[in-house]
Amino acid sequence: MRTFLAVVIPSLVLSDRVAAQCAAGTTQEISGNWYCSEVTAITYANFPGFGSYEKITDMDVNTGDCSSVRYNYKGSTWSSSTTTSTSSSSSSTSTAPASNGGWARQAYFNAASGTAEGLTFLNHFGAMDGIPGTSAGGPAFGTSLSYASSDGQSGAASAQVLSNAMIEDDTEVIIMTDQSCSDGGCGFTRPGGVAYHGFSGAQKVFLLEFSMPFTNSTTFNGDMPAIWLLNAQIPLTSQYGTNAECSCWTSGCGEFDLFEVLDSGNFRCKSTLHMAPAGGSSDWFQRPTGGSITAAVVIAGEHEVAAIRVLDGGQSFDATLSEDVVSGWVNEAGSVFKMEG
Ligand SMILES: *[C@@H]1O[C@H](CO)[C@@H](O)[C@H](O)[C@H]1NC(C)=O
Repeated sequence: MRTFLAVVIPSLVLSDRVAAQCAAGTTQEISGNWYCSEVTAITYANFPGFGSYEKITDMDVNTGDCSSVRYNYKGSTWSSSTTTSTSSSSSSTSTAPASNGGWARQAYFNAASGTAEGLTFLNHFGAMDGIPGTSAGGPAFGTSLSYASSDGQSGAASAQVLSNAMIEDDTEVIIMTDQSCSDGGCGFTRPGGVAYHGFSGAQKVFLLEFSMPFTNSTTFNGDMPAIWLLNAQIPLTSQYGTNAECSCWTSGCGEFDLFEVLDSGNFRCKSTLHMAPAGGSSDWFQRPTGGSITAAVVIAGEHEVAAIRVLDGGQSFDATLSEDVVSGWVNEAGSVFKMEG
């Protein structure tokens, strides 16, 4: 029996004005973004537990047009983990509720030991330099998903394990499960693209260990590391195409930025939820420019709450997590951002 979650959300008095969410005297604007206080825990309350978005049903490579149907979800729309970053020594693990009430590890990556279990590293080099994938549909769809090379800088002919090195500026690596969409379970996916299931389920935990050293670059996307979650249907259809109707992003299927540096040289990481409603806390996490930090992300869609927690050192990445530990992360005091709308 799964016992997870006796969620207690502190009562809130929040205004929709960014400045009013900050503790007195802490508000500052940097390159167009608002920042309040440094924190180690942010809870998203009223995390959308139900809603609807446009689910893509077809992509016409001749016209660049796409079709969709309105899709209602309940629990959570989240089904993918996308990681991009200037990061090194990263470990990550994704867990799902186990039937006995605890949590069982579903996927695991340890860069230092080269261990990768239950996951696949992808990026967007489909059909470039002859590697598997497709560019059919042109700019409207953008290039499709491909297997990522071990340094993330290009595509590969088959699945590779990400190397234990910094992911360079303006380089994106997507982490999916090792379950191919060839079972038909992913819904419509880009014909010709490399397709794997995301991490599905309304309740899930991601454990991360990472660093984000300064690269000092000021070029496009330079020195702007980020880790975020994206609904798997976005990369599986069109993540970087010019036709916004070829992805469910615009209609709110989901992006959750967890640790995002928004301008070069900034030592603050923000979090933001892009769906319906959209919004983000102006409290921020310290960017780990020196050593790595460990963080837990708990999505409890059925309870309309999500929690991002920077953990003390010593958190294990073992095969199981106890219910007490996970519910402790959800209930721990921290900055609370209430989604409105
Ligand atoms: C970035 O600049 C800082 C401060 O000047 C310096 O200590 C660091 O070595 C630089 N990092 C790189 C990768 O050049």
